[in-house]
Amino acid sequence: MSDKSLIDLSWDEFDEHRDPRPSENQFDQVVERAISRRDFLGGALAFGSGAAVFGAGLFSSTSMSHAGGSGAFAFEPISIATDNAIHVPEGYESKVLVRWGDALWSQANGAYSAENGVSLEFSDKVFGENTDGMELFSVDGKEIITVNSEYVNPKINLPAEAEGTPRNAEEVQLLKNLQGVTVMEVANSGEGYAVVVDSPYNRRITHETEMVLAGPLAGHPLVQTKADPAGKTVKGTMNNCGSGKTLWNTYLTCEENFNGYFGASGDMPEGEGYKRYGIKGESRYAYEKFDERYDISKEPNEPHRHGFITEINPLDPNSTPVKRTALGRFKHENAEMVHAADGRVVVYLGDDERGEYLYRYVSNDTWAPGQSPEGLLDNGQLYVAKFNDDQSGEWLALTPETTGMDAASILCFTRMAASSVGATTMDRPEWVATNPLKAEAYCALTNNKNRGKKPNAGGDDTAVNGPNPRNTNNYGQIVRWRPADENHAADSFTWDLYVMAGNPSVHSDAYAGSSNINEGNMFNSPDGMAFSSDGKLWIQTDGKDNNEGDYAGMGNNQMLVGDPESGEIVRFMTVPKGAEVTGLCWSADKKVAFVGVQHPGGSWPDGAGKPRSSVVAVWRRDGETIG
Ligand code: FEO
Ligand code: CA
Ligand code: CA
Ligand code: CA
Repeated sequence: MSDKSLIDLSWDEFDEHRDPRPSENQFDQVVERAISRRDFLGGALAFGSGAAVFGAGLFSSTSMSHAGGSGAFAFEPISIATDNAIHVPEGYESKVLVRWGDALWSQANGAYSAENGVSLEFSDKVFGENTDGMELFSVDGKEIITVNSEYVNPKINLPAEAEGTPRNAEEVQLLKNLQGVTVMEVANSGEGYAVVVDSPYNRRITHETEMVLAGPLAGHPLVQTKADPAGKTVKGTMNNCGSGKTLWNTYLTCEENFNGYFGASGDMPEGEGYKRYGIKGESRYAYEKFDERYDISKEPNEPHRHGFITEINPLDPNSTPVKRTALGRFKHENAEMVHAADGRVVVYLGDDERGEYLYRYVSNDTWAPGQSPEGLLDNGQLYVAKFNDDQSGEWLALTPETTGMDAASILCFTRMAASSVGATTMDRPEWVATNPLKAEAYCALTNNKNRGKKPNAGGDDTAVNGPNPRNTNNYGQIVRWRPADENHAADSFTWDLYVMAGNPSVHSDAYAGSSNINEGNMFNSPDGMAFSSDGKLWIQTDGKDNNEGDYAGMGNNQMLVGDPESGEIVRFMTVPKGAEVTGLCWSADKKVAFVGVQHPGGSWPDGAGKPRSSVVAVWRRDGETIG
């Protein structure tokens, strides 16, 4: 890492740099185990004969057609791209809806300049940087998009002389303001969608917005600070990655790499939790140098107040966001809420770090439309997934009895609780999506270069296992499960792999991918996922886009559409070089899809000046629905 400064590292590299994990150095042994595990896949994993047949052994047949269109999709799949543009299928159009720096209130009109970005004065009155999870809310004929700004690129936002590191409190404040969450009304004037500037719904929520801590951890000594001795009021939500929508029409924002915002000016406080969550040393943005709240030598409990699912009511701009501690503390990717067959509320939650876990929350009480949701996200049970090699699985309850930890510690140090019950280490759980047409859930396991090589941050073994079957997994896979009795609140499930990404033009073993991968639809690192109302799975990638070597033929990051029944996957969209695709929602009439384009390269989309993370609208020229 010597030739890269902290700010040039990805969040993943940042963690590795601060907490390098020892290599187990037993690679041959691990490969051996991986090969023996192929047997449990019912002979379905055929190595050495081109693509590996996979996944559908349990649930469906696998006669996959090559990308080239099929009756299941309304478009001709597109080829890869390596350029600096957006591409969508023939018959579709795309247009940028909003870019980092665009005004949400007219007082900030023209606040963005190609040379200097946005000044501090207007930084909380414009669309934030690095768009991520988003949801659309439809009320009284109005459409309101709520969308995360996951992080900032200081080299783009700060003056060149700063070289990517804030030099004073004002520069720290600028970065804080450009992250968090944006609530914005959008409307279709007939010439496409645009942000409704000055709408009363418009709102920015930043690292400084006051919020409430709720659930069993609220008020506990672990979350008390000098500024908040009661442990019930917290400033800010940070590193807002994926999203979720509740059954009662509120927004869930998911705090992911919160650890990177804390540093230590002096001695590290005692406690295993700091190491497990990657909290130590110098922060990514040097916040702690100008704001003691972020200095764990002075405020050791402040990091315990972040890493939660935070609920926001986008329809009430005066509402106070609420951190829901009952859903556990870890690097939350998204929050997929589903109404279980028995009436309880279930939320699926991934912890995106190599070798961490997949979780599920189940409310104690049932809910029905029209009832108050009070307490549903505060009183419930958190579980962690255990996948068995015979394609069965169980949700293991995290309780004082099962973990030997007290109830508050389970929610504050959820990763340690999960380790203690022997959950299945996963290849970086990103988004979970549930099928609206049947009781079935999918989780994108984006990649894990440490699989079979290094333990996770808690020292748990990461030898290959059922849903994570490849060592040094640079391509990723999507696991799916079906709950017992078609009830998402049931404690057991069966699972298979919907797809293993891979490159059949380079590999002829398991790294070629599953049978539904071919040279026409190759991709790596599935990340964002959402089901459209017609039961299609939309898959967004955040992978290597150099189009070389192991990635040759995959091109830029992309959005694909999968048919859960046939397993067929086709490419719908490609984004500019350097960008990942993240965040997806649809207009109320389903005629427009809104797609996030995060960290583009070059000067996209303006063609000159700085690259600007943006939300893009995509629609069919013939006016039909697209999802
Ligand atoms: Fe922010 Fe795991 O993606
Ligand atoms: Ca993601
Ligand atoms: Ca990712
Ligand atoms: Ca990202």
